Formats: sequence, structure tokens, C-alpha cells
Amino acid sequence: MQISVTRLYPEPGYQQPLKGLYLQHQLHREGRPESPFVYSNFITSLDGRISLGNPGNATHTVPAATANPHDWRLYQELAGQADLLITSGRYFRQSHIGEAQDQLPVGNQQEFDDIREWRLAQGLPEQPDVAILSSSLDIPLAALEPYRHRRILVITGESSDQTRVDLLQKSGIEVLRAGAGTRVEGQLLIPQLGRSGYRSIYAIAGPAVFHTLLEANVLNRLYLTIAQQLLGGELYDTLTRGALLTPARSMSLVSLYHEPCTGVAAGQLFAVFEPRY
Ligand SMILES: NC(=O)c1ccc[n+]([C@@H]2O[C@H](COP(=O)([O-])OP(=O)(O)OC[C@H]3O[C@@H](n4cnc5c(N)ncnc54)[C@H](OP(=O)(O)O)[C@@H]3O)[C@@H](O)[C@H]2O)c1
Repeated sequence: MQISVTRLYPEPGYQQPLKGLYLQHQLHREGRPESPFVYSNFITSLDGRISLGNPGNATHTVPAATANPHDWRLYQELAGQADLLITSGRYFRQSHIGEAQDQLPVGNQQEFDDIREWRLAQGLPEQPDVAILSSSLDIPLAALEPYRHRRILVITGESSDQTRVDLLQKSGIEVLRAGAGTRVEGQLLIPQLGRSGYRSIYAIAGPAVFHTLLEANVLNRLYLTIAQQLLGGELYDTLTRGALLTPARSMSLVSLYHEPCTGVAAGQLFAVFEPRY
């Protein structure tokens, strides 16, 4: 992949290869035992869509118009630096019915060999572990099979269904509780993961999980790709879903890169934001 992007902020004007743009961030060295480094990543259209409902599909999926290999490369580079991925019960239900976008990263495709090799050279295990947030605990066991070589943690609230917890544990899955009701609370979750030895935590779920992190003020960084497209549609998700965030969470721009339009492909912006706590 020989794609260059132009830096717009800070110090505009530099050209940089897209490949390696995020891998150099060394996120696995940012966290501390008492405060793991928590980051997330989305691709959004200009009108804020991260996913769309599609006729004939049971679930919402990332819009075909915005999904693209350049953003996907950066998504994989971010996973390359993670000790742990946070995903959701929804992902495994969607995967079970064949509607998930792809397997969990880091991808096994040849084009990501360098990322997996980079992990090993950095002293990280071959693949990040997997944490699944779920209140319902409706997680098809068959969908977990491809990940049995990684540590899988299901995380739920104190009052979630014990029968389902028993079922998961009987099949060898670890279950943690981090929340008073059925929901996981970010301010309990992240310290617990820190105590389990995780330093870099990459949230790749959607709007409810992202809201859980924002509400608890535990997010350290947001990587946001903005595809320069307007999609419309009536069934869609945006970055967050949950109670109004009061006060609104303010974010500082850390860096911004631009990939221009080429032929029929829309341009995109690669932005990095950090919350101002
Ligand atoms: N464009 C992008 O970059 C991007 C990125 C990520 C996702 N997406 C898309 O966004 C859409 C929605 O994704 P999603 O459903 O995974 O997102 P989500 O809204 O974050 O997660 C939904 C599920 O996660 C669990 N969950 C969330 N917060 C929880 C909490 N505090 N405690 C316990 N469980 C919690 C619940 O699972 P249970 O139902 O099992 O209780 C819930 O149904 C999908 O279409 C996905 O493809 C797009």
C-alpha cells in the first residue's frame, strides 16, 4: 500500500505514508496499571452515519459507501497496539448470522503480516484478548470458537442472569461483573481491567459501548475517520447512544490528516481527538 496523506494539523503540509501512520503511536506503552490507556475508533460519513439498516439484513452494518481499505488498515494498526479489544454481545450475534463486517482484528490476511510481526517484536502476544460487554448475555457459543486461542472475558452487571453466566462458565468462558444493575459501568470496568494486567484497551464496539466509556470519563483517545460523503437514510447509528452527556464532553484535536478524492473514491480525513477532562 503506497498511499500518502497530508498533515493538516499540527504543522500542515507534510506528506506521510498512510501505512504506519498509527502504528507509530506506541499505545501499548501509554497505559499504567492504575490507569490503562483506553481508545476507540470509528469511521463516519459527513452526516454522522457509522452504520445503516439494510433491507434484507437483520442488523445494521457499516455503510458500504464509507468502508474502505485505507481506513481498515489504520483500524488494524490500532488493534496491533492493543492488549485487549472491547467488543459487544451484538457483534457475536451478528457474526453468528453471517452479517458481521469481518473477524475481530488483528486480521490474518497477508497484508497485515507486518502488524502481527510488529506485535511480537514489541513483546506483545500474537493477538489481543477479547472482552465482550453484554447485559443480556445472549452470546452464541459457536461464534466464540474462532477466538478460543485468546483469553475471552464476558463482562456484565451484578444482576445479570445467573443461569446464562453458569452456561458461559461451563463452556470455559470467564465472566466478570462490573456494574450494579445489568449494565457494565465504565468507572468499575477500566480499573478492574487494569488490575488484570491490561495496559492498552481498544474499544471496537458501537455507540452504546462508546457512551459507557464517555459517561465514566475513562476514554483517553478517539480516532475518527471522516469519509467525505453524505449518505442520508432513515435507519442509522451515530457515534454515541445513551443518556444526554451533561456536561457535553469536549475534545481537543491532536492531529488531522487528509487523503484527497481520487477518481470515484471520496476523500477522507483522519482525525485524532483527546477528551479535555
Ligand atoms: N463505523 C464504525 O466505525 C463502527 C464502529 C463500531 C460499530 N459500528 C456499527 O455500529 C452498529 C452498532 O454496534 P454495536 O451494536 O456493537 O454497538 P453498541 O451499541 O456499542 O453495543 C450494543 C451491545 O453492546 C452491549 N453493551 C453496550 N453497552 C453496554 C453496557 N454498558 N453494559 C453491558 N452491555 C453493553 C449490549 O449487548 P447485549 O445486547 O448482549 O446486552 C448491547 O446490545 C453496528 O452496526 C456496527 O457495525 C460501526
